[in-house]
Amino acid sequence: MLVVEGLTCRFGVKAAVDDASFQISPGGFVGVIGRSGAGKSTLLRTINRLVTPTQGRILFDGVDVTALRGRELRQWRARSAMIFQQFNLVGRLDVLTNVLMGRLATMPAWRSLTQTWPEQDKALAMSALEQFDIASLAAQRADQLSGGQQQRVAIARALVQQPDIILADEPIASLDPRNTKIVMDALLRINKHFGITVLCNLHSLDLARSYCDRLIGMAQGRVVFDGAPAALTEHVARELYDLEATEVMGGMPVPAPEGIPALGTAAAA
Ligand SMILES: Nc1ncnc2c1ncn2[C@@H]1O[C@H](COP(=O)(O)OP(=O)(O)OP(=O)(O)O)[C@@H](O)[C@H]1O
Ligand SMILES: [Mg+2]
Repeated sequence: MLVVEGLTCRFGVKAAVDDASFQISPGGFVGVIGRSGAGKSTLLRTINRLVTPTQGRILFDGVDVTALRGRELRQWRARSAMIFQQFNLVGRLDVLTNVLMGRLATMPAWRSLTQTWPEQDKALAMSALEQFDIASLAAQRADQLSGGQQQRVAIARALVQQPDIILADEPIASLDPRNTKIVMDALLRINKHFGITVLCNLHSLDLARSYCDRLIGMAQGRVVFDGAPAALTEHVARELYDLEATEVMGGMPVPAPEGIPALGTAAAA
């Protein structure tokens, strides 16, 4: 169980995350939605401890993650695997080695220096690639792959970390519709087949509604909605996104768009 209590993260005077509180039970597929600048990335980065919170606490299975240091902090970062919009692979290395990077946190220092990977780790990495239909790419350089393939490699790398939770920060933002589906399906597989909790930032409300069993809506750092996708009324959705539509139009008031999904698309533009 992930518990976020009164989490605040300030950059100077600006609160990127402002007094956020929620709990996530194991096995959920939770979407974080909201306009650009709402604090979605900062929330995920704070949970992973890439960013240190100004106030509040993050507990995982009763352990105060906010207080971890050194080795325990590194272990937490592995247990809360991040997936980024830009994949963050090492382009000059082959796919298998990129996936094996997910095992680094479990390796003694001498082994990571010599880069001799245990056979069982290699087998684990291959089986992760198989999960996402990219085992045939194992020997290819990562920078030779398409975006969708690269993101699946990143998801395989996250999987071999054997995480308790996956934190995906707009994992499909740079992909075309076909690859968007492939990558979202890969995350769904991680969630349903392996029972790993997924917390995923998404610009597209349409996608969030189709894939997530719960949505957390953020506006100006605050959690303004937390519930099932079906409970997200058009009224709340407009509240979450309208402000940005206005800003995109240079501050002029604009009529509310017809379809809710288009609002999410506008936010991504
Ligand atoms: N390292 C930082 N230093 C200063 N301000 C920051 C930093 N990171 C984020 N912010 C600010 O915090 C606010 C929230 O940013 P964040 O990136 O979390 O939003 P977001 O919801 O992920 O937006 P987007 O949808 O565009 O990715 C923004 O106003 C942003 O400018
Ligand atoms: Mg972001």
